[in-house]
Amino acid sequence: MSYLNYSAEQLRGFDNAHHLHPFTDHDELRASGVRIVTNAAGNYIFDSDGKRILDGMAGLWCVNVGYGREELAQAAYKQMRELAYYNTFFKTTHGPVALLAKRIAELAPSHLNQVFFGASGSESNDTAIRSVRHYWALKGKPEKQIIISRNDSYHGSTIAAVSMGGMGAMHSQLGPHLPGFTHVMAPYDFELANPEETRAEFGLRAARAVEEAIVEAGPENVAAFVGEPIQGAGGVKIPPETYWPEIQRICRKHDVLLMLDEVITGFGRTGEWFACQSMDIEPDTITVAKAITSGYQPLSAVIVSDEIADTLAQGGEYYHGYTYSGHPVACAVALENLDIIAREGLIERVREDTGPYLTQHLADVLSDHPLVGEVRGFGLLAAIEIVKDVTTRERFTPAGHAASVVRDRSIEAGFMMRAVGETMILSPPLTWTRETIEEAAAIVKQALDEAAEVLR
Ligand SMILES: Cc1ncc(COP(=O)(O)O)c(C=O)c1O
Repeated sequence: MSYLNYSAEQLRGFDNAHHLHPFTDHDELRASGVRIVTNAAGNYIFDSDGKRILDGMAGLWCVNVGYGREELAQAAYKQMRELAYYNTFFKTTHGPVALLAKRIAELAPSHLNQVFFGASGSESNDTAIRSVRHYWALKGKPEKQIIISRNDSYHGSTIAAVSMGGMGAMHSQLGPHLPGFTHVMAPYDFELANPEETRAEFGLRAARAVEEAIVEAGPENVAAFVGEPIQGAGGVKIPPETYWPEIQRICRKHDVLLMLDEVITGFGRTGEWFACQSMDIEPDTITVAKAITSGYQPLSAVIVSDEIADTLAQGGEYYHGYTYSGHPVACAVALENLDIIAREGLIERVREDTGPYLTQHLADVLSDHPLVGEVRGFGLLAAIEIVKDVTTRERFTPAGHAASVVRDRSIEAGFMMRAVGETMILSPPLTWTRETIEEAAAIVKQALDEAAEVLR
């Protein structure tokens, strides 16, 4: 049975009656109506009304090579015919997973060489949590259980990932919180720096909040600190340059592992394969997902240090795994996707050209706008802070309304970007060129102009 036998109106009706959407207010959705995305090509998505929209979010931070890649479709097709599924539990493996593990180990920092696969970022963060706790138990320190995280961090939607994440709204719907997670301030200088503080000083203060939390809990009880190199879903919060080196020093000093969540930043977004390479961080674990397949298949992984891998390997059977750990079709697509990223020089392009140009051009076009409090970016990640008053940084009320007006105007004008609170965020495919950046910036400017009229 194909959906193509049904009209857009019928499909909307089915969706309305039977589909619970992620992160959605369903009353609001039913009132506004749902957009049916029908197809996509290159940097654009198309909907059932025939509207063409430039995708400034790469789907959901994932479609790094852009849409409609024939090579990826062929890789999936061939692998499904050859071996559509087999597990990797019982002393078995298969070609795609073995080769992909090797390839990821080659791309990752040299002391991370072993990979545990999953099917989503949330799942792999659960794996990372279990792995660091099990590691410490095997080291004879089972009391090292606590994981320190930050406010506004997003690590996924499973119970463990929500507990580890720092999203207040998600915590409020969690029920009893899982024990063993502590949250500290985010490195978000736009809102949290004191007036007399430099960005560098603020970065050190934000890092020292982690040390205070370690000391308060007792280093003998702390397993790890976890962070996204750049907080993505929390509003593209880019830490000052002083932050990560200080975090690294603090973790080493207190014998606390450093877990990086590179679900967004992995595979080129910051101008290196991993953000830890852009920012000179030496993590003990890296969680990846999304762009590992450019979103063409669900796949995720935790890459762990040799020290953790060797310790786990000596600990007898590790009772952990998923039916789809190392799914052959997803792994085959990932291999082809990584080849495209390398072959087309997409990472070098982000590092040397489009990354700096995105931030510079958005700043040139938007910095003087009366609604814009700040434009910031790193690689192909960018954020625009919406304010009522650029001098005092006072926000519009109610919180979130102004940014949603900007977002809606932008989508209407043909550019997809998201709003997080009062922050507009961009995370486009790595295939964007300078021309695409200029096209996007022009629409954002128009959306801001229109929003300014509505809001004032
Ligand atoms: C940094 C980060 N970690 C984890 C996740 C969760 O990944 P998934 O939605 O695949 O479970 C996300 C999703 O956006 C993310 O941005």
